[in-house]
This record gives sequence, C-alpha cells and structure tokens, in this order.
Amino acid sequence: MMRLKSSRWCLAHHLEDLFVDTILKMLYNVLFMEQTLLVIKPDAVRAKHIGEIISAIEKNFEIVDIKYTRLTKLQAERFYAIHKGKPFYNDLIKFITSGPVVGILLQGENVQRRLREFIGATDPKKAQPNTIRARFGSSITENAVHASNPDEDPQKEIRIFFPKYKKKGKLE
Ligand code: CMP
Repeated sequence: MMRLKSSRWCLAHHLEDLFVDTILKMLYNVLFMEQTLLVIKPDAVRAKHIGEIISAIEKNFEIVDIKYTRLTKLQAERFYAIHKGKPFYNDLIKFITSGPVVGILLQGENVQRRLREFIGATDPKKAQPNTIRARFGSSITENAVHASNPDEDPQKEIRIFFPKYKKKGKLE
C-alpha cells in the first residue's frame, strides 16, 4: 500500500515537472526564438556556390528548411515591395527572377540580426572580410545572398518561400 502511494506521488511530481518544463519552454520560444530567411541569389547559384554558402550557414545557424525554386515576377514584386519606386527596383526584380534561388529558413535566438552581420554589408566591397557577401558577391545587385531585415517583415518573406510555417515559436 505504502509503495503504491509513493509511486503515485512520484508520478504526480514527474507530471508536474514535465508540465512546468513544457510551459517554460513554450514561453522561452515565444519570447526569444526567432525565424529568418536567407536567400541564395541567382548569381551565387549560377556560380555554383550553393554548397559553400550552406556549409558556412549550417556551422553557425540552425537550418529548419530549404527550398530550391525560381521566383515569379509577382512573387519577386511581393518580396521586394519595400523597394518599389527606388531607382534600382526594376533591375532588382529582373535580377532576382533571372534564375533559380535557394530559400533557407533559419531559427534561433537573435538569429535575424546575427544573420545580417554574418552575411556582411549590402555592397560586397564594403562587407567585412570573410562574410558571405565579401566572399561570393560581385556588386551591389549581384551580392550573392539576401537576409530578411528585422526592421521590416521577415515573416512576410518567409511565407513567400515557406507558406505552411506558423508565425512564431519553435517549429516542430
Ligand atoms: P538585398 O539584401 O536583397 O535587399 C535589397 C537589394 O537591393 C539589395 O540586397 C541589393 O542587391 C539591392 N540594392 C540595394 N541598394 C541598392 C543600390 N543603391 N543600388 C542597386 N541595388 C541596390
């Protein structure tokens, strides 16, 4: 009888711990876990740099999903809507739809800003040595990769490549 009572007590405690653990994990994910999108652009795909870029990324970030695709004009216009009206907009749309691209969904703590730093400045000539753009970019248009801007709307960009993913929290 005593043994039964004590094993029930243990089970109750175990379930309580599990519940608290799950709630804490969910809270942590909602508060700190971010998602972001990296796009390997047509210049880097044409130059066969997909492997090297993914290799650098996987060593430093958590990859959730990858998609090899070619953006339609409509998708590209939605993707770069924020730049509409700028002098380089038409060239940007032409370039990003000029060939296949690779969308990579990443997640982690502060991943949006960490990724931007990791890929380097928009203009490869101004990018820090060893960043992705310094290594693989050749001009401000053909700059090898794009990473979502945390001050804009990363989720909107993510949904263009990965429509099924939910808004926030750990993906599983
Ligand atoms: P990306 O990170 O994909 O976001 C928008 C893109 O517009 C940017 O990389 C550049 O390729 C391009 N871009 C930004 N500023 C300029 C500019 N001044 N001239 C030409 N292209 C630009």
